[in-house]
Amino acid sequence: MSDDRTVLVTGGAGYIGSHTCLVLLEAGWTVVVLDNLENASEVAVDRVRELAGPAGTNLTFVRGDVRHGADLDRAFTVAPVDAVVHFAGRKAVGESVEHPLWYYDHNVGGTVRLLEAMQRHDVRDLVFSSSATVYGEPERVPLDEHCRTGATNPYGRTKLFIEEMLRDVAASEPGWRIALLRYFNPVGAHPSGRIGEDPVGIPNNLMPYLMQVAVGRREHLTVHGDDYPTPDGTPIRDYLHVVDLAEGHRAALDRIDVLEGAVAVNLGTGVGSSVLDVVAAARAATGHPIPLAVGPRRPGDAAEVWADPTVAADLLAWRATRTLAEMCADHWRWQQANPSGYRG
Ligand code: NAD
Ligand code: UD1
Repeated sequence: MSDDRTVLVTGGAGYIGSHTCLVLLEAGWTVVVLDNLENASEVAVDRVRELAGPAGTNLTFVRGDVRHGADLDRAFTVAPVDAVVHFAGRKAVGESVEHPLWYYDHNVGGTVRLLEAMQRHDVRDLVFSSSATVYGEPERVPLDEHCRTGATNPYGRTKLFIEEMLRDVAASEPGWRIALLRYFNPVGAHPSGRIGEDPVGIPNNLMPYLMQVAVGRREHLTVHGDDYPTPDGTPIRDYLHVVDLAEGHRAALDRIDVLEGAVAVNLGTGVGSSVLDVVAAARAATGHPIPLAVGPRRPGDAAEVWADPTVAADLLAWRATRTLAEMCADHWRWQQANPSGYRG
């Protein structure tokens, strides 16, 4: 189905984007990546080509910014584009509180420019990176797509506003088919250990932090609160292997013809794990004791966030299959082989 079809992947040099490009190349897509490399390395693109084998020649990298129409036009004219997967944007909650306009410019402004370019080049199929963050403080768990939305920080609001904007665009003219993929907590790396997450500075997220403790870059993990109303007192999340997530994008492109307008779809496992569950799995995968210190709660953290993934199964025929143990083992392989990420 994907033979001779071309997908433009914005932000394709990043963590989720690089894994998705590999899955799409393996599925026979021709891939054009547009990335300004502000939070990524071109080495990731080279490694995706290498991992894809002969299909690697079907990947073209364009360095450019989604906020610039001319850069988008360059990417759209590499080959006739059939569909777009839009990852490009900023994703750190704290940074978004400090620099809200910068976030609105990148995430909302970048998406406006992208949609204009899609109209210019007559492309109407779009897969968008949304986030479980749009549910804010969860109304209930598991979260299904009918749950109340309401973000609690500027980053989350950019995702929510983009979702609304995409619904407006889809309603304004027939032909748009848009998947709003709401990711839960992507972790792990490709099992080769060649591509993975490469955070700049001190990681905010649990898994990269744990792995940097295990590799000796940090002393201990601070558990942000152990007095939540959960069985072990630490918050519960829905951790999802990044390769499962990448496959979710392939499924969305394969099944885009069943979408009418803009449709929200949770991508999660449906299984919740506490911080201490993840620590135990990381200890087992790494053989490192991973010392802990318990600190105060992190502002804005909910006790439990996990997905009802039924819509993804029904609509996209997609299910996550990889376990927490595999997520940790694969993240660890990447971390060990690349202790400083793509920087050497
Ligand atoms: P990432 O930072 O690794 O990838 C984003 C990529 O976009 C980077 O390669 C960066 O260089 C590029 N980029 C940023 N601004 C750009 C611009 N203006 N023009 C062109 N390229 C630009 O992040 P990721 O974890 O791979 O996340 C990808 C998407 O998924 C983001 O939209 C993020 O908000 C969303 N998301 C991520 C998570 C997560 O936990 N990682 C969870 C939910 C949603
Ligand atoms: C965070 C973001 C969310 C984003 C998601 C992407 C916040 C408030 N939310 O969510 O917008 O979509 O990442 O995956 O930043 N933890 C520790 N110690 C640490 C780091 C984390 O105990 O050093 C705990 C946190 O309190 C949380 C859990 O680990 O309970 C997971 O944290 P994290 O990986 O940051 O993900 P989220 O909080 O779900």
